[in-house]
Amino acid sequence: MCGIVGILGTEPVATRLVDALKRLEYRGYDSAGVATLEAGRLDRRRAEGKLQNLEARLSDAPLQGHTGIGHTRWATHGAPTETNAHPHMTEQVSVVHNGIIENFRELREELTGEGAAFATETDTEVIAHLITRELKAGHDPVRAVFNTLRRLEGAFALAIIFGGYDDLMIAARQGSPLAIGFGEGEMYLGSDAIALAPFTDTISYLEDGDWAVITRDGLAVRNREGKAVERPVQKSVASALLVDKGNHRHFMAKEIHEQPEVISHTLANYVDFAAGRVQLPDLPFDFADLPRLTISACGTAAYAGLVAKYWFERYARLHVEIDIASEFRYREAPLEPGGLALFVSQSGETADTLAALRYCREQEQHTVSIVNVRESTIARESHAMLPTLAGPEIGVASTKAFTCQLTVLACLAIAAGKARGHVSESQEAELIAALTEVPRHISSILRDEARYEVLAHPLAKARDVLYLGRGISFPLALEGALKLKEISYIHAEGYAAGELKHGPIALIDETVPVIVIAPRDNLFDKTVSNMQEVAARDGRIVLVTDAHEGEAGCPVMDTIRVPTAHAFTNPLIYAVPVQLIAYHTAVLMGTDVDQPRNLAKSVTVE
Ligand code: G6P
Repeated sequence: MCGIVGILGTEPVATRLVDALKRLEYRGYDSAGVATLEAGRLDRRRAEGKLQNLEARLSDAPLQGHTGIGHTRWATHGAPTETNAHPHMTEQVSVVHNGIIENFRELREELTGEGAAFATETDTEVIAHLITRELKAGHDPVRAVFNTLRRLEGAFALAIIFGGYDDLMIAARQGSPLAIGFGEGEMYLGSDAIALAPFTDTISYLEDGDWAVITRDGLAVRNREGKAVERPVQKSVASALLVDKGNHRHFMAKEIHEQPEVISHTLANYVDFAAGRVQLPDLPFDFADLPRLTISACGTAAYAGLVAKYWFERYARLHVEIDIASEFRYREAPLEPGGLALFVSQSGETADTLAALRYCREQEQHTVSIVNVRESTIARESHAMLPTLAGPEIGVASTKAFTCQLTVLACLAIAAGKARGHVSESQEAELIAALTEVPRHISSILRDEARYEVLAHPLAKARDVLYLGRGISFPLALEGALKLKEISYIHAEGYAAGELKHGPIALIDETVPVIVIAPRDNLFDKTVSNMQEVAARDGRIVLVTDAHEGEAGCPVMDTIRVPTAHAFTNPLIYAVPVQLIAYHTAVLMGTDVDQPRNLAKSVTVE
């Protein structure tokens, strides 16, 4: 999704704006631009594609202003061309925007009727024209922005600078997050604290509906009604070293390899290892009293939720409903008051997940979020927040956030099982011991990485790939297919192994690799039967398993052997081969692994 930065500086800011934008690259974008104010005059440089194109523009024609804004655009309204790239401007004002202005069509008609000439297809340009109209009517910039904000519908974040006003930037937040940073005689603005980490760790977050008038001396925040409000200034934990890939070729590789460490960190946050007990923060409900659990999330986070459904049902005997948030939010699902609603989100900003959370609050559910960004909107709006300690995830395709989400969910399921009388103290200790071994098992999978480079060769030639799994391995089949299609662009589908006969078997021939996730658990023999059906039709099976040679009883193209672990923790362990298969296939195909086409890291629109 789009990224916003801004600097009121004491020296030329264009290069620093681009550096800050680089730290927002992980969000996904397809064009970029910066604008600065030089001798009272606004000027901008924009470019299609990656930031290096913008850097080339700036080196041909530098911008010298000390006041500036910058933007990476993820196209929603209009193609990703230079013309549609932000900042959008008139002589008086320059604007960058994240989100969607829902009523832009009527505003555009109104402004066109008054003679405004539009240069782009974007919804953003109406904002530049609305502010300009207010300025021309004699209002000062602050009043002009206030009047404009009242006309805008939708979820958005804005940064605005003004011709003739060197010491002024106005920011507004309605739905999409914005962080304001404090420096020595300088002020900064960013879509998140990560963008600002090289400049400052002193941050203030705008609340929904806030808008801030920023000068080099500080800021004045007002709420939607225009009333002055105070927002706390805090120390951010975002690290300036964050954009470092270490020795890895891609962030995704680095993040896959970080999993043993970040799972350990996350586990340490929720487990008393010495006592063999789960220790959760105080939660405003008792698991024993819950009528049911509703889980809502998007993408990979939704698959983490689906794994958790199997855990909560099996170990806590708790009725679980799970749905992707974009469907759940509009279903008008009846929810008995007093139920628990769980929201899983790496970013904590996903628009559909946030809407599902708000619906559940209206329905008098206890709301708990599992997020990787503690200051995020979803974290702040839920009754309780359980952080994953994955550290910032930069690769668009989620990897370490997924396994850390599973870690938290596993702890929660154990706690629920215990409270509901279905997990004894000794079982709790056994399950925790199993979780404790996960980092070690994952390390041993990672040591065997070379074999995935070999497997990538036949997979990279495939047009379609099928993933099969049964029981708790079914969500892993879905996640495997999602990972592969996201980053390699090969068409892939995940299916419950038992559903094979009801359709997908028609696709099987010698050209279709079928990746079977089959730990040697109580359902292994059932999955083997489905595999045999594939083999009988010349399908090329890749078996991911801890079973011994020959146990599959049918010819396979390749077997990925993983360590034998407790059945409870298999989803965490099998997640890693699934990630490595996708990663190495994509690398072989030469795609943009960390920022795959059309995808965004943080999806703040519906
Ligand atoms: C996007 C990302 C996925 C992520 C999903 C949900 O599609 O590309 O990796 O799983 O959003 O995001 P969230 O931040 O809510 O986990």
